[in-house]
Amino acid sequence: MPNGVRSNPDFPSVERSEAIYNRAKQKIPSVTQTLAKGPTQYIKGVAPKYIERAKGCRVWDVDGNEYLDFNMAIGPVSLGYCYPRVDEAIKAQLEKGITFSLMHPIEVEVAELVSSVVPNAERIRYSKTGCDVTSAAIRLARAFTRRDGILACGYHGWHDWAIATTDRNRGIPGSVRALTSAFNYNDIDSLATQIDDKTAAVILEPMLFEFPKDDFLLKVCDLCAKKGALLIFDEMWTGFRLALGGAQEFFGVRADLATFSKAVANGMPLSVLAGRADVMSLLEKDVFFYTTFGGEALSLAAAVATIGELKDKFVPTVLQRTGARLIEGYNALARELSMDYTQCIGMGARSMVGVAEARNSLAGHARALVLPFGGGYRLHARGLPGGAPNPEEGC
Ligand SMILES: Cc1ncc(COP(=O)(O)O)c(C=O)c1O
Repeated sequence: MPNGVRSNPDFPSVERSEAIYNRAKQKIPSVTQTLAKGPTQYIKGVAPKYIERAKGCRVWDVDGNEYLDFNMAIGPVSLGYCYPRVDEAIKAQLEKGITFSLMHPIEVEVAELVSSVVPNAERIRYSKTGCDVTSAAIRLARAFTRRDGILACGYHGWHDWAIATTDRNRGIPGSVRALTSAFNYNDIDSLATQIDDKTAAVILEPMLFEFPKDDFLLKVCDLCAKKGALLIFDEMWTGFRLALGGAQEFFGVRADLATFSKAVANGMPLSVLAGRADVMSLLEKDVFFYTTFGGEALSLAAAVATIGELKDKFVPTVLQRTGARLIEGYNALARELSMDYTQCIGMGARSMVGVAEARNSLAGHARALVLPFGGGYRLHARGLPGGAPNPEEGC
């Protein structure tokens, strides 16, 4: 019998997952389309590999086992799976069409909505993936400043400029690689020593799992202004989650450009580039940024419903509160059980379970896909970003 979240004496059987995985290995290089969902991130032979369906904060794998999902699709699903208001909006739009030969008015509706909640969102454009909009932001910054250098902190997508600083950069020309350098979060010196009159943009996630210390974000902002570089907030995780207006609202710091996806449409593929009117106006002609599905209407309909629900139900506050309970509860349990090798870090809206790789060290942050409900935790694989249970269900 498949395992459920209320009775879970054994590890679940994951035979079907393994069988599909064996087929995938014959056809799909690296097996997964999203690194964080792939088998390298989870415990072999114990964690499921394929999910078949989901509802609220629960998921069912292809073997029929039920889990509580603390990843929530690696960020996008902040309201819960199959959320009625969002699904109804998608279905209503589906009746009228998905992609058309002309623009659709919903493009304007979402632009007005995003502008009304995100600070500094004077102008808006859409695309489909996070790296589409971070790359568009970089191109805009280069065009606006007439410089090429990029200083980046963290992950911003798979495109050449972004992956250039990693050790998986084969296939990226050396001349492109030379234009991007990395700096460290909460280490203003690592930025101050590199930023110069060749720097077009400084791009960072305004918060990962650590709060900005010692006015870090303000100092980054000031340095950019002083050196004439644009500041880009990559709000893939913080947007529509930390606060409705993202990190700019939460921390009271303004970026020149900001990029969003994940939580904006509760799982539908939509990304948003927002920013200063004078910078964004380059998209009128000089900077080319167009894509076939940019105005796809199902995702935009989902965004209207999602933003409406986030606003009406104060979801960022709910995420903060339930997430904080989870962090405190996890850490209290770990202390009680003398499990000093594991800890939950971050903040309510985005947290992560860490498991020590070596004794007395919390070096490796493992990802926790699923913690079975009500039976202690048996299956703790990898990754706990800020996915939170459905606020309607309050779990
Ligand atoms: C902070 C951040 N920026 C950019 C991206 C790239 O987004 P996408 O995978 O949609 O291209 C990600 C993806 O996880 C991300 O976490």
